[in-house]
Amino acid sequence: MDLKLKNKIALVTGASTGLGYAAALGLAKEGCKVVINGRNEKTLNAAVEKIQNETGSQVIGVIGDVSLPDVPEKIIQQTVQAFGGLDILITNTGGSAHGSIDVLNEEEWQKGIDLYLMSHVRLIKFAFPYLRTSDSASVLTITSIAAKQPIPSLLLSNSIRAGTLGLTKSLALDHGKDGIRFNSIIPSWTITERVAELLSARATANNSTLEEEAKKQASESVFGRMASTEEFANVAVFLVSPAASYVTGVMLSVDGGSYKATI
Ligand SMILES: NC(=O)c1ccc[n+]([C@@H]2O[C@H](COP(=O)([O-])OP(=O)(O)OC[C@H]3O[C@@H](n4cnc5c(N)ncnc54)[C@H](OP(=O)(O)O)[C@@H]3O)[C@@H](O)[C@H]2O)c1
Repeated sequence: MDLKLKNKIALVTGASTGLGYAAALGLAKEGCKVVINGRNEKTLNAAVEKIQNETGSQVIGVIGDVSLPDVPEKIIQQTVQAFGGLDILITNTGGSAHGSIDVLNEEEWQKGIDLYLMSHVRLIKFAFPYLRTSDSASVLTITSIAAKQPIPSLLLSNSIRAGTLGLTKSLALDHGKDGIRFNSIIPSWTITERVAELLSARATANNSTLEEEAKKQASESVFGRMASTEEFANVAVFLVSPAASYVTGVMLSVDGGSYKATI
């Protein structure tokens, strides 16, 4: 199938490693011009070089913390300056602080809201004028199974991410008339650096090993394993591509059957 992605301009935030990196790599493999973002310059530059070498596509890196109010606009401006427009926006971030209600303070809650909800709002808001002029505009918010099924100790994610699903669905309904599609991927456990960190924290708390915690977590999937980043990226690349032109307002779980409820 031709995904019709050649020469499309894509921005993927939170993309120097993990899920974002895999999605950016997948888009570059399909011939997109790609902008990737992250906070650490060294990691970001290494990711740019790796994607360029592997795909031959044009890739640039834009540094910035998407949870800060004034950064999303700058990232969008730099993307448009580099490539002359924007067709595809994948809004992704890292993770937030852990903790229970008695531990998390007001500032940590506010930071969680800025990271898990407002980064998506601001990126989409500033990208909007450019997406409007694209003939194949598509936005994909990356959320988490936590939005539907709480994950122990991730109270911020469990509480705030559902707002991003509401945002995605609302925008899909409001802006189909502008030719812009909005979807979300709801990933569950996918092998990335963040997951290694979460599992080693659990191993310390439970006095077990990382391997034991990984096995326990993997057993929640009907396949008895976690996803690879490529399995996530294949779905992301299809959803944002013109090949999915009649798909909007979808909150698609890529979770190996980990979510157990019927609806
Ligand atoms: N992997 C999973 O199993 C899974 C499951 C469900 C949901 N998720 C969610 O999906 C997202 C990506 O997860 P991941 O596992 O790929 O994480 P990851 O391996 O930690 O990668 C996160 C990427 O985002 C960048 N980043 C982090 N915070 C950022 C910020 N504030 N502004 C800009 N870039 C930022 C990181 O680079 P820098 O540190 O240099 O900024 C890195 O490139 C997270 O929100 C995570 O909670 C992941």
